Amino acid sequence: MLRVENLCTHFHSKGKTIRAVDGVSLSVDRGEILGLVGESGCGKSTLSRTIMQLIPPTSGKIFLEDRDLSGLTPKEIRRERLNFQMVFQDPYASLNPRMTVFSALAEALRRRHPNLAKDDLSREVGTLMEKVGLAARFMKKYPHEFSGGQRQRIAIARALAPEPRLIIADEPVSALDVSIQSQIINLLMNLVRELDLTMLFISHDLSVVHYIADRIAVMQQGRLVEIGSADQVMHEPEHDYTKTLLEAIPRVAEHI
Ligand SMILES: Nc1ncnc2c1ncn2[C@@H]1O[C@H](COP(=O)(O)OP(=O)(O)O)[C@@H](O)[C@H]1O
Ligand SMILES: [Mg+2]
Repeated sequence: MLRVENLCTHFHSKGKTIRAVDGVSLSVDRGEILGLVGESGCGKSTLSRTIMQLIPPTSGKIFLEDRDLSGLTPKEIRRERLNFQMVFQDPYASLNPRMTVFSALAEALRRRHPNLAKDDLSREVGTLMEKVGLAARFMKKYPHEFSGGQRQRIAIARALAPEPRLIIADEPVSALDVSIQSQIINLLMNLVRELDLTMLFISHDLSVVHYIADRIAVMQQGRLVEIGSADQVMHEPEHDYTKTLLEAIPRVAEHI
């Protein structure tokens, strides 16, 4: 579904070069959840933004279903972007406070189906809300009227609206209470299965990634230092850095 080859994203600031992503190669199979883990500042968000075509890569290639994204025109990229959607850490910042759930989801649905009639839109918004565990009767409410977990459900529904095939979730539970984290993680796992999605799931927390992912990639200072099955990386880590991450695990897994 997704293949990244020798990807580099460097920033230049104050005469220095920051190698945020520095030669990353990985692939995610259809239906798979690949977990990406690493400390804050190691380049996880830059990698996801580069894959999403929100930042141009310094070098390297990105293929979605074997289509080379670097050869596309801006218009083609906008069209292609419907196929891969993001969920961010902070649902409050990523949702427009002046838009009701209905408006936010209707706008996202229209990106794929511009001619949806009003009645169909209401029905589709309701269906989307129920898919993420929200009652359709709340569609006229605003983001501030929901809890943090419910807001993340809205953000997930908005990501699903354009019928993507790949979801990139960048620390989607890091801002939530531990008790809510497992609900959102289980929701994402079920959606991937039910809707035949593929997901790149990013977290600084190895125990969360181990719970959700089929395979885990470990990132340190812009590079992947280890990639393997979730159990192998968790129980038989090869790289010293992975062992350090394991020792630092907060006990979230015990709550799941
Ligand atoms: N737009 C930018 N300009 C300059 N440096 C950046 C920019 N975005 C990120 N960085 C730097 O790149 C590195 C990786 O950041 P980031 O991708 O946000 O890491 P993570 O998501 O793993 O915490 C950090 O050193 C960060 O300061
Ligand atoms: Mg980040």
